[in-house]
Amino acid sequence: MLLGVNVDHVATVREARKDVEPDPLKAAMLALQGGADGITVHLREDRRHIQDRDVIEIRKKVKNAEMNLEMAATYEMINIALKIRPDMVTLVPEKRAELTTEGGLDLVKGRKKIQKAIDAIQKEGIPVSLFIDPSIADVEISKELGATMVEIHTGLYSNSRGKKQLEELKRVKSAVKTAVAAGLLANAGHGLNYVNVKNIAAIKGIRGLYIGHSIVARSVYDGMEDAVREMKRLTETV
Ligand code: PXP
Repeated sequence: MLLGVNVDHVATVREARKDVEPDPLKAAMLALQGGADGITVHLREDRRHIQDRDVIEIRKKVKNAEMNLEMAATYEMINIALKIRPDMVTLVPEKRAELTTEGGLDLVKGRKKIQKAIDAIQKEGIPVSLFIDPSIADVEISKELGATMVEIHTGLYSNSRGKKQLEELKRVKSAVKTAVAAGLLANAGHGLNYVNVKNIAAIKGIRGLYIGHSIVARSVYDGMEDAVREMKRLTETV
């Protein structure tokens, strides 16, 4: 089970003062020392946290781990991805007013744009992952589009409780199962924390988990290395 650590919110704190600290690159290096298998950054169109220079610096320094660039399927972002050459690209939907990525891609409405992005990026040898809701139909469309991977959105699972949470867990499981059967690599992420991660980490066939907020939050108390080490332990002892 791979653990990709998203360091966007280190940049969120920095951007609150438009200062130079805390530095997402330094946080990324500490996350790797704590056992992270990869580093994720989301370069948003509005540049609210990660900046272009962060992506360049992180690419330069993250060499023996997976650098995952999250981005919208726009012309500007495709050009940046082809220049930076991350190890993988995750296409995500973006809305200006959202607090975070609130849902998976709309593969019906956005099909043409997403297809173009996948083709342009994968043609250059960079695998593309689609961030999708835990829906069988979306897994099937992802396969048709030729993506290498999917990342199943675990936000609803994370935000629900009791019976509803078990239903959401089932949806995530069947999306993963369908993806694996279709020959797609299946990842999961969003809203995962030190309490709810175990059920997701226990799903057979999941390649990797992509986690940001809870790890960055814990790092304020325990430091980034320990925060990552503990998450890694939880995902490996299921
Ligand atoms: N995966 C994707 C595609 C995301 O957009 C995000 C949030 O940036 C995450 C995972 C991580 O979510 P969280 O910060 O809630 O752990």
